[in-house]
Amino acid sequence: MPVKDLTKIALMVTILIVLGVIPPVPLGFIPVPIVLQNLGVMLAGILLGGKRGTIAVALFLFFVALGFPVLSGGRGGIAIFAGPSAGYFFGWLFTPIMISNGLKMVHNNDKWWFDFIVIWIVGVIFVDLLGTIWLDFNTGMGFGKALVANLVFIPGDTLKAVLTTYIGRRLNHYPQFKD
Ligand code: BTN
Repeated sequence: MPVKDLTKIALMVTILIVLGVIPPVPLGFIPVPIVLQNLGVMLAGILLGGKRGTIAVALFLFFVALGFPVLSGGRGGIAIFAGPSAGYFFGWLFTPIMISNGLKMVHNNDKWWFDFIVIWIVGVIFVDLLGTIWLDFNTGMGFGKALVANLVFIPGDTLKAVLTTYIGRRLNHYPQFKD
């Protein structure tokens, strides 16, 4: 892999780690906090494309697994992948490739909302749905209850999808088309 690509991946991992410096917002009714790191995961798809974006997110999760305190709030460790947030992490792994492939199909220079819809469906609905399914399995709280609790993430995650769309179009930077 060219040094330029490795540098971009390293920068993306850094962005993911820096977003983790912003403390998580704990919620009393669900054992999963509001975080900013999923913004970085959506950005990975836009800024790096499917392959390199996936490598960046996988590397980040590998650092978490190794115990580096890179998750928001300074957390890390393999046990996190058996905890209530594991479903979201699984979704994060597929987010860059799905966003990248989705954009390849629908991107239109004149219609920003085509990009937004792809980013929203993958980065918000897909990830939150996987998170919900695992949360129910992990806590036994029931799918309906887990789904309703997850609604709390939708407004903030939608804003992150808007920001990702804006940044992608502002930079006019769609390397995923060259994957
Ligand atoms: C953690 O750091 O333990 C939680 C990471 C997963 C948080 C998920 S990502 C989608 C949804 N939006 C949020 O702001 N939080 C959850």
